[in-house]
Amino acid sequence: PREGYYALRTGRVLCIAHRGARSVAPENTILAAQRGLEEGADLWELDVQLTADGQLVVVHDDTLDRTTDVASRPEYTGRAPWRVCDFTLDELRGLDAGSWYQTADPHGQIASGGVTADDLALFPGLRIPTLDEALAFTADHGWRVNVEIKDMTVNADGSPGSPDYPGDEAVVRAVLECIRAHGLLERTLLSSFRHDCLRHAARMEPGLALAALVEDVRPDDPVALCRDLGVVAYHPGDDIVTEADVAGLRAMGVAVNVWTVNEEADMRRFIDWGVAGLITDVPLLCWGLLRER
Ligand code: G3P
Ligand code: CA
Repeated sequence: PREGYYALRTGRVLCIAHRGARSVAPENTILAAQRGLEEGADLWELDVQLTADGQLVVVHDDTLDRTTDVASRPEYTGRAPWRVCDFTLDELRGLDAGSWYQTADPHGQIASGGVTADDLALFPGLRIPTLDEALAFTADHGWRVNVEIKDMTVNADGSPGSPDYPGDEAVVRAVLECIRAHGLLERTLLSSFRHDCLRHAARMEPGLALAALVEDVRPDDPVALCRDLGVVAYHPGDDIVTEADVAGLRAMGVAVNVWTVNEEADMRRFIDWGVAGLITDVPLLCWGLLRER
């Protein structure tokens, strides 16, 4: 395992706040990160994409309509489906990335009282952060982060990504520059479904902790995959990981961080299997379980 990985070790299972504590604040905002920190998460996970003018921003979907007010903005009526890669940073920064939460109540936390009126008052006007801002927040709080580079070559609907995509190498170079600028090389876990990004990162910054993201279909041989990529961590969806995978990867010194684990019974099961970390929308629940062990 690489040096950097040890800086991420705590001696117990890691609690990783998925897109921040996205159950209680609008995902991938600085407020969601703040809530993750308050709820005891060891690090937060965020999603990185490029704007039309080549800036790194923190947003999950390849379109802006679910988590911003773009669809209700008259000036953007003709810009559907509102792809992140078609908007400049200035345009993105003018969007409200918080008000949607009140309408959607995405985790039922408003209905259940987990998110109060005082909390809700903070959401309108939240902005999509730049990666620079997100890492500044992380560094300022002496925290740690799992930066996920999204696969920008293909959209969720299967259509091709922006023809202006500068290539994996250029994206990884820019992300690494930002991580270095904030002094977070020892406090960052870099992950991607786009494994070529991991290969570039391994070459450009050999000490950085890397994680292979996989979903939908279990790789034939997760150990071989991780060995080939030179990663210190394996990030499977919770529906494709097996107890044998966890044991086999552990034996190779590869950490298994499962996503997205939100139910207490599942958290206990994966902890019993020996996972290294849980990527969760509800860090408070996760941290509570970890503290009692
Ligand atoms: O990094 C774990 C998880 O975030 C990967 O899936 O779609 O939530 O980015 P997604
Ligand atoms: Ca993610």
